[in-house]
Amino acid sequence: MNLDYCNIEDLRQLAKKRLPRGIFEYIDGAAEDGIAKQHNADVYRSLKIKNRVLLNVSKRSTAIEIFGKKLAMPYGISPTASAGLMSDGGEVALAKAAARMGVPCTVATNSLTPMEEIYAAAGGNLWFQLYMWVDKDLRMAFVDRIKSVGFDTLLVTVDGSVGANREHDRKNGFSMPLQYTPRLIAQVLANPGWCLRVLAPQYLRRGAFRKANYPPELSSRLTDKIVDHELTKTDTQCWDDIKRIRDVWPGKLLVKGLQSLEDAVIAADHGLDGVVLSNHGGRYLDCAPAPLQLVPEVRRAVGNRLKIIIDSGARRGSDLVKAMAVGADMVMSGRPTLYGSAAAGEAGAYRALVVFQTEMDRIMAQLGLNSVEEITPHIFWNPPDWVPKPRA
Ligand SMILES: Cc1cc2nc3c(=O)[nH]c(=O)nc-3n(C[C@H](O)[C@H](O)[C@H](O)COP(=O)(O)O)c2cc1C
Repeated sequence: MNLDYCNIEDLRQLAKKRLPRGIFEYIDGAAEDGIAKQHNADVYRSLKIKNRVLLNVSKRSTAIEIFGKKLAMPYGISPTASAGLMSDGGEVALAKAAARMGVPCTVATNSLTPMEEIYAAAGGNLWFQLYMWVDKDLRMAFVDRIKSVGFDTLLVTVDGSVGANREHDRKNGFSMPLQYTPRLIAQVLANPGWCLRVLAPQYLRRGAFRKANYPPELSSRLTDKIVDHELTKTDTQCWDDIKRIRDVWPGKLLVKGLQSLEDAVIAADHGLDGVVLSNHGGRYLDCAPAPLQLVPEVRRAVGNRLKIIIDSGARRGSDLVKAMAVGADMVMSGRPTLYGSAAAGEAGAYRALVVFQTEMDRIMAQLGLNSVEEITPHIFWNPPDWVPKPRA
């Protein structure tokens, strides 16, 4: 791909050109006033790191091991619904790019390609993200299916007790169920390139876009009205539901969408293997804290009882370094590889991953660090109070 696209913002700009406006706003936009989304980025940017010189860093490595698997860097792709709208076979593109880089990719419940197809096509370190249906039998049968496909890491997303207030999506007709409003149709027709690249192959090969993982009992067309028992965002979910899954899920089990140390402690008490501290990229609770800021207090509360993964806002390799320095075990994000996939399919998604890895490698050299274990709070210059103090 064109080397002019050398950072995540470049990929974002290209994605903006190549997607119909409503689809770009669906991936790029956030809830309400976009305060949390902006804050996620601001917190990363506000931390200053200082270089160290005359240290031999020629043997440095960005690699880590987590859940018994080696990763090229402490990074994974977050689950994103409708990634199949970015490029032809968009979900497979993300998974293949991740496998090539050597990092995990999380397949979403609401993906437009069946999990079996993604698993067979991509291989690699695939995780699965679960939204819990109200209907408990359907939900537990779905967990069995995920297990039988071969996934060994399950992330249950729990921050959607009610739907999000994304006003741009409503205006564009892009909330669920999808409505073919004159505005959305006009936006799609105004982008014939996307129609040819993504829409036409989809219709020719599979017909209309569908939530391809949904069991036959549920309606899966994006335009279908969602009836009560089909809801995945439900205000009746509670920790007992997680316990039921823990009882049957033999692999690694994480919950995603936590923002408080109290919830992280409960997760540890339920025997979970990790938490993903996340504000959904600012897509649900506006004014939420940035997950990066939560890491130190959560780490103090849970110690090493479970892995602390964060997402929301990482856009640079230096962000991965900062997250590790405040105590995270790994970072995830969803939008960067979506931008990449919209920009150039699998090659674009891979480019996003290369950006993270090469930037992280360069920053480690500049900071005089040879391994991820050496990344500690001593890298910060004049850090704010919430950052842990370096050990003397
Ligand atoms: C278009 C889009 C769709 C998403 N769909 C899901 C989803 O189905 N399940 C989920 O747990 N998170 C979903 N997320 C949230 C991501 O997993 C992740 O928390 C978020 O992208 C982090 O923000 P960042 O990408 O800006 O760093 C979605 C995010 C985006 C941008």
